[in-house]
Amino acid sequence: MIGVFDSGLGGLTVLRALIARFPETSFAYLGDHAHVPYGNRPSEEIVDLTRLAVEHLFRRGSRLVVLGCNTATAVAARRLQRNWLPETHWKAEGHNVVGIVAPTVEAATQTPWAVTTPQYPQKFLTDRIAVFGTTRTIASNVYAEEIRKRCPKVTVVQQISSELAGAIEQGRDEAELERLVETAIAGAMAQSDGEAPHRAILGCTHFPLVEHLFRRHLPPATRILSQPEIVADSLEDYLSRHPHYAGAAGAEPRLVLLTTGNPDEASARARVFAGEGLVFHRLEA
Ligand code: DGL
Repeated sequence: MIGVFDSGLGGLTVLRALIARFPETSFAYLGDHAHVPYGNRPSEEIVDLTRLAVEHLFRRGSRLVVLGCNTATAVAARRLQRNWLPETHWKAEGHNVVGIVAPTVEAATQTPWAVTTPQYPQKFLTDRIAVFGTTRTIASNVYAEEIRKRCPKVTVVQQISSELAGAIEQGRDEAELERLVETAIAGAMAQSDGEAPHRAILGCTHFPLVEHLFRRHLPPATRILSQPEIVADSLEDYLSRHPHYAGAAGAEPRLVLLTTGNPDEASARARVFAGEGLVFHRLEA
């Protein structure tokens, strides 16, 4: 069973792409609805909450956890991978945690994550890439740094949208969501003197839930990178190298949806985005 974690509903965009790509695999999803949104919280708190969530998913049988959340990945992934996991019995038992920034940077730069010096032709690319994210993701600067390592001449325009993830979680009406998306895009355009970005990264897993609004207000020439698809591509590659994480072949695939918050509310909100049939259960500590 593979675990997918997000602060709330946003990771469902990733989960949906993973289920479509790996129909034979079981997934456990955990939304930390008791603490959503993460985007404006202090970094230390995000690290602690993410570690707790990963441990819950490990304990419930996931050997691999995908952080289906840019904020958790940007702030906590490296620290958990380097400082926490190696010190635990989980590592010895073959558990692992992966984030979603690396595959997105790979796709945006067309460069493998392991390659951290500019190669031809990325060395000479002069594109403009817009990254939309939460306060904490943008403050981490991880997208800009990792893109510029591989493509030093690319212009990275980073735009905070501090309220959008929370507004999506709360199921605010379309007009309000559209206003927040328009404000974010206007901010990004102002940073680049009105020049259209070549590509846009919706660097918050909640944002694909309003991708149609980004599409409506971004210049037509801007290509939106689909992070859920990118993560599915990357996981396919990872599982081809580490097939034991996919679980036993031939077993009936299961989907478990867990929340730290109110399961009825989480199920009702999930329905708005993902259709009928998603039933959340309360995570028992
Ligand atoms: N969906 C998350 C992300 O990708 C977090 C949003 C939030 O909780 O602020 O950043």
